[in-house]
Amino acid sequence: MDEIVGRVFLAAPLPPEIRFAMNERVTEMPIPGKVGPADNWHITLRFLDTVDRVTYERFLAGMDPVTETSFSIRLDGFGAFPNPRKATVFWAGVGEGSAQLTMINEQAEEASLAAGLLPEERPFHPHLTLSRIRPPVDVRELVDEELSLSWRCERLVTYRSHLGRGPARYEPLDWLDLIG
Ligand code: 2AM
Repeated sequence: MDEIVGRVFLAAPLPPEIRFAMNERVTEMPIPGKVGPADNWHITLRFLDTVDRVTYERFLAGMDPVTETSFSIRLDGFGAFPNPRKATVFWAGVGEGSAQLTMINEQAEEASLAAGLLPEERPFHPHLTLSRIRPPVDVRELVDEELSLSWRCERLVTYRSHLGRGPARYEPLDWLDLIG
């Protein structure tokens, strides 16, 4: 077995000012469950799981270049998995930019398959996970709250996830520029 890179995923990062504004917004809301630290917030584009060096490099080759020009992402509301009445994940949703994120997810899926990974079975739904809730809670009132935060997405990042006690730590590995 080749050297293990770790538990890796590709994501759209948040600029610091958006992280800050989102944090301000979230602290005034009674969000149930475990709210992840603001430093961890991101929009996942493809979760690779534990990969070795060869697989990871092949994945990166499939993402070079990312065939998408820079675009605007707007977080424009809240939602929950599997549904707001019995929520286990509470998230901020993407309005503008959702089509481009979906295109990048499709490229990442192809790059993953070319690298020898198994296909992702879950449909892609761009979101930013804010909290994980056990047991499930009714968040129907919360998903009606307003949100509007936007920024220009110019690059993506691969993170290595370090699990342990407390929240995961996400270490940036590589930055992937969009094509202008
Ligand atoms: P989530 O926030 O919606 O759970 C790191 O775990 C990131 O990868 C999270 O954003 C998580 O999405 C995403 N992810 C996607 N599939 C995953 C899986 N099978 N296991 C863990 N995380 C996954």
